[in-house]
Amino acid sequence: MIKRITLLALLLALPASALFGQVESNFFYATMDLGSAQELYEEFPDDITIVRAVSGQAAVYMSPFAAHKLHDNILTHGPGYVYMPSRTAALSELKPLQAAAKSSFTYTLTESSLVEQALPLASAANIEARILNLQSYGTRYHNRGAATDAVYDLKTELEAEITAAGRDDISVRIVNHTGTPMPSLVVTIPGASLADEYVILGGHIDSTAPDRDNAPGADDNASGIATIMEVFRVLLEMDYRPKRTVEFMAFAAEEIGLVGSFEIAQEYNNAGTDVYAYVQMDMTNYNGSANDIYLMTDPYISSELNDFMFDLMDTYNASGEHAISYGTSICNYGCSDHFSWAQNGFDVAFPFEASFSGRNPNIHTSGDTYSVSGTANHALKFAKLGLEYILESAKNDLLSTRDFGRQAVQIGVSNSQLSYQLGTQGEFQKLSVFNVIGQQITTATIDNPQGTLSLGSLKSGVYIAVFESSRGGSVAKKFVIN
Ligand code: BES
Ligand code: ZN
Repeated sequence: MIKRITLLALLLALPASALFGQVESNFFYATMDLGSAQELYEEFPDDITIVRAVSGQAAVYMSPFAAHKLHDNILTHGPGYVYMPSRTAALSELKPLQAAAKSSFTYTLTESSLVEQALPLASAANIEARILNLQSYGTRYHNRGAATDAVYDLKTELEAEITAAGRDDISVRIVNHTGTPMPSLVVTIPGASLADEYVILGGHIDSTAPDRDNAPGADDNASGIATIMEVFRVLLEMDYRPKRTVEFMAFAAEEIGLVGSFEIAQEYNNAGTDVYAYVQMDMTNYNGSANDIYLMTDPYISSELNDFMFDLMDTYNASGEHAISYGTSICNYGCSDHFSWAQNGFDVAFPFEASFSGRNPNIHTSGDTYSVSGTANHALKFAKLGLEYILESAKNDLLSTRDFGRQAVQIGVSNSQLSYQLGTQGEFQKLSVFNVIGQQITTATIDNPQGTLSLGSLKSGVYIAVFESSRGGSVAKKFVIN
């Protein structure tokens, strides 16, 4: 809101921006590059309002002072503005991208046993460690070396975790951009039966503040990256094998106008990639409102995907240890990277730390540090919702080409009973015991991940227990009867 000030005496005491800002009738509409609009807004928030942003372009309402400042700036970089006679004219200049024909998002909730396995594994301590690590770079402003270092260091760390987990199917790649020297990072868990459909969880890893060299960005947005990486870590710990392809993204240069995410979303759109769903994590650790998680309901957000997120929380977080309370709020503009994906025609949702007005007031300052929140318990709730989102969207692949880990099946024999313990529920349907010359001794169906099979009176010797899945795979275990 622009306040009208009528006292002439006051004018002398006010800065130039405020002088122009008070004469509301001098404000005018224009279109300009979103990055420039954002820079102006950062410096002179009273002199420019971003009315709407589409595909890297913004319709703005600004003062002559802001226009003057923009003029100063374009001598050194960036484009200027185009005057528009009215709000309607400005808005109609913004052309949405041609979205590819996409099926509308539909969902089912089928993975309760996996979700219940996942939720207790998520840890606030891990999220805390990652936030502290990212803030320790001092700045992650997109054109600073430290920002690029943070991305490459994260890549190195993730690759070590992936190798330790023995997962050579998972990859981490750097994405270079044209609009920023900073790269983005993309982690891919390839899906099995629905590999062409992408389930994405993303957020920006850059930061900003008036002093670009002192921009800790703990909440905006080390918290979101730490949350995303904890979701990934838990899935790795579970040896999760999705049906759909799952990707985790850390974007460059969000703070200067969604640059990294826009380039990637556009590339996916141009390539005809089928993004099943995109969820944004940007600011997850400031507990600033009555409820835990607020789902943004801006018009570019998918109401189907939002319904899914509400259903997830109703199903898995209604009460108890993993309880999450929720509400809704609205940004009123393309406030973060999910807007890039929406502009490219994909279904997006944005769970946020508070209502828009209850957000962390320290962001975009040197005061955006971890000490403001002091624990990662708030972000932990977002990690749980993130896990539910991935597991119920990408689903669990039952076997297919899976290479069973040694831990998948454990057996023991005593008192003419074979007892077994299966690592992953529902994978094996049938158990048979053979002798070494291939004669079947006994067989039974498997109803539980844990059970016993009566062996009767077997002669001393070596036997083989074969656990079969309905989709052709099997695991064989040898045992000896003395
Ligand atoms: N994390 C913020 C977005 C945000 C802030 C969402 C407060 C909800 C409440 C993001 O990093 C950001 O600063 N976005 C810019 C806009 C963008 C187009 C550069 C903003 O909100 O000013
Ligand atoms: Zn920000």
